[in-house]
Amino acid sequence: MIAPILHPDTPEIAYRNGELCVEDVPLSRIAAAAGTPFYAYSAGAIERRYRHFAAAFAGRAARLCYSVKANSNLSVIATLAALGAGADVVSEGEFRRALAAGIPGNRIVFSGIGKSAAELEFAVAHDVFQINVESRGELEALSAVARRAGRTVAVAIRVNPDVDARTHHKIATGKKENKFGIDLAHAPDVFAEAASLPGIALKGLAVHIGSQLTALGPFEIAFSRVIELFRALAARGIRLERLDFGGGIGIRYRDETPPTIDEYAGVIRQMTRGLDVELAFEPGRYIVGNAGVLATRVLYLKDGVTRHFVIVDAAMNDLLRPTLYDAWHDIVPVRAPEGAFHATPQSVVGPVCETGDAFALDRPLPPFRPGELMAILSAGAYGAVMSSSYNTRPPAAEVLVRGGDFAVIRERPSYDELLARDRMAPWLAGR
Ligand code: LLP
Repeated sequence: MIAPILHPDTPEIAYRNGELCVEDVPLSRIAAAAGTPFYAYSAGAIERRYRHFAAAFAGRAARLCYSVKANSNLSVIATLAALGAGADVVSEGEFRRALAAGIPGNRIVFSGIGKSAAELEFAVAHDVFQINVESRGELEALSAVARRAGRTVAVAIRVNPDVDARTHHKIATGKKENKFGIDLAHAPDVFAEAASLPGIALKGLAVHIGSQLTALGPFEIAFSRVIELFRALAARGIRLERLDFGGGIGIRYRDETPPTIDEYAGVIRQMTRGLDVELAFEPGRYIVGNAGVLATRVLYLKDGVTRHFVIVDAAMNDLLRPTLYDAWHDIVPVRAPEGAFHATPQSVVGPVCETGDAFALDRPLPPFRPGELMAILSAGAYGAVMSSSYNTRPPAAEVLVRGGDFAVIRERPSYDELLARDRMAPWLAGR
């Protein structure tokens, strides 16, 4: 049997009358309207997770800046903007998305190690709330940009606390060998320099040690090092008013047991007790990760010599996580199997011409038939945003569900649109 509610954290995605639904909408209804593959997100789940995060810090000055990179669809950002969310962005493109979705510049934190002068100018011109600076070079570039604009910009210095986040190595960011942040040892000098630069208003410290953290320990070590630095700076007369603790809280994909938001908040409340600072958080995956599925259709079954392949119409160009991080995403049939079934090891693969294009290998799954719909779960974060048109495949459409309604919030591009961005070199044109 497959449990009616697939994920304990996401009651919005469940079987009803034998069919997998996002809120009140069966996935087959969306498939009929939008074709496959498509992402479907539950607006209710996104809102619930945001509210839960905000409630955990009630009564504590805390700013929630949704990390737009996790899912930057305008409708998703606008859903959160309506609840008062700020945004954490890492490029001018994301900055523009946040603005277009209704988050004003003064609720936007601009992170990232390689912001260009043009991007910094854009942020300054749009009243950015805070720029998280990651190097001396950037500090100097920002000072020049601010001076030219005749403005003073609020800055936090992102530090690298040299902590093992105990997550996949490609998404761990807080070890000294990682490119992120300024080492704790160098931070005081950078602060002294920042204090002397025109156009820079030093406001805080920022830290983000990685993504999909499933234990509190690494957060505690990182935050305590940041707080120690905060105190040391205060003793040297540099008084800060903000601490940005980044994102990174993990979610359950398979059988992980990440801390609850109340446990996370409890630890932070305890650690910051008596500190007169505004806190900021940049959660991405926590808000949207379990709120979305990738729906795909089975094309063919193929029995190899050692493997049973289920070939589906979604591929690594739509959802890269399994290929890039060996990430696990639960896979279920959209129509619940009737009665008991015998799960057999199957390998779910896409049409892309790479062996790495697989969503699951030798995983015990119920029987699938060609033509039937399948759902790949927990695909709301780092799914559509990381898609590409590799193999000249139009990336999956995106759909937002609210109650019994749904809307296509990003269409699958047409082939004409895919080809239209290329130009024939003049010496080839007309041949
Ligand atoms: N703040 C900063 C500075 C970040 O670099 C990130 C994520 C976040 C916040 C949000 O982290 P979250 O709360 O979502 O863990 N593509 C990878 C994840 C990359 C995360 C990059 N930075 C994946 O699919 O697992």
